[in-house]
Amino acid sequence: MDSIIVTGGAPLSGKIAIAGAKNAALTLMPCTLLSDEPLTLTNAPRLSDMRTMSQLLQSLGAEVTSMQDGKVVVLSSHGLTSTHADYEIVRKMRASNLVLGPLLARFHEAEVSLPGGCAIGARPMDIHITALEAMGAEIDLRDGYLYAKAPGGLKGAKVPLRFASVGATENTLMAATLAKGTTVIENAAREPEIVDLAKCLRAMGAQIEGEGTSTIIVQGVDRLHAATHRVVTDRIELGTYMLAPVIAGGEVECLGGKMELVSAFAEKLDACGVAVTETPDGLHVKNRNGRHAAVDVTTEPFPGFPTDLQAQMMAMLCTAEGTSVLEEKIFENRFMHAPELMRMGAEIEVHGGTATVRGVERLKGAPVMATDLRASVSLILAGLAAEGETRVNRVYHLDRGYEQVEQKLSAVGARIERVQGE
Ligand code: EPZ
Repeated sequence: MDSIIVTGGAPLSGKIAIAGAKNAALTLMPCTLLSDEPLTLTNAPRLSDMRTMSQLLQSLGAEVTSMQDGKVVVLSSHGLTSTHADYEIVRKMRASNLVLGPLLARFHEAEVSLPGGCAIGARPMDIHITALEAMGAEIDLRDGYLYAKAPGGLKGAKVPLRFASVGATENTLMAATLAKGTTVIENAAREPEIVDLAKCLRAMGAQIEGEGTSTIIVQGVDRLHAATHRVVTDRIELGTYMLAPVIAGGEVECLGGKMELVSAFAEKLDACGVAVTETPDGLHVKNRNGRHAAVDVTTEPFPGFPTDLQAQMMAMLCTAEGTSVLEEKIFENRFMHAPELMRMGAEIEVHGGTATVRGVERLKGAPVMATDLRASVSLILAGLAAEGETRVNRVYHLDRGYEQVEQKLSAVGARIERVQGE
């Protein structure tokens, strides 16, 4: 397994190009199942999760072709041969469950393995199941698979979500586009990736309104057609690289960044004494005056502070002036980066879903281990300003959600290299 070695101390300067959003692409790709005409995605990120989703769709008989070094992906389910999403692929990536809604909507059946838990939590699918059953699906759970069918097709319905689940909103939205009648999704997730999904579905001929609000209304249509869609900028990669100059010093311009993608996050940075400025090409970030200050953070569904930036924010707060309290309200076990940061000298106390971080002057480099995607990048960020070398092991987690992380950071002056695993 590869490792990444970061040698701290170099202030940063330059521009980092932000890629297309992993969490948008992973819901856009299954949209191909909703039509027998091709779907073309541009500005696609080059990530291992995308390859996993391609494998899953190909295992169903769909065609997935990458072009222009992976930035363009053309998909077609014209020749679909199966509606069985196998455990061997689904267990590698929870987002595989996003084929459930489209398969049910178009083929009126689906056999999708439960993704199983992951490092950050149990991650059940009850909200997805309740929503699709409200639309007439019959779903049985046995031997680790969801066996779903919708004889005669799904029907439009009022679908109140008990929690604004991103994945459940996406599965329901995709399913509703081909249901008979009108579907009203209440307490829908409002993430930019949902807005991007609605844009893509509308380009395919779907009739949707209200995306980005808590109530999404969908008029079902008989069929969807070919479309080309540009994947929205990745707000989590954006927030991650905005933190790099805050931690390491210097200044960075994140190309493609837009304030509306990270407004709650940018507000917190402002409270820490960080200047975030909109430029014609993106967002420019630098500390206003020397050391950044502590701030309290609570993760919430969009437009609140994103849980996917909590680990990275903690890495920054480890060297802030003062004490910060972070509350993780979305996942039940998302502080695994804390013990690793403590190996680097961070002063953190975790009690359940709350972590208290007492800022120290400087962290010390150490060998640390990545446990999930966002935890792994938080360790790299911490290493940018730590004394000496930080060796982050198990970086396969990193490659799931960050393309060319060592190239992007070394291009702005970080001392970072990847070493092949033993
Ligand atoms: C999406 O996961 C993202 N993944 C996650 O990003 C992100 O952390 C999460 O949304 C929250 O923003 C993708 O988009 C591929 P949820 P998802 O359904 O859809 C509970 C990353 O690092 N829940 O909004 O799975 C669930 O257990 C990843 O890129 C149920 O209880 O998130 C969790 O506690 C990590 N029952 C909470 O809701 C359900 O049926 C939020 O889950 C569904 C969810």
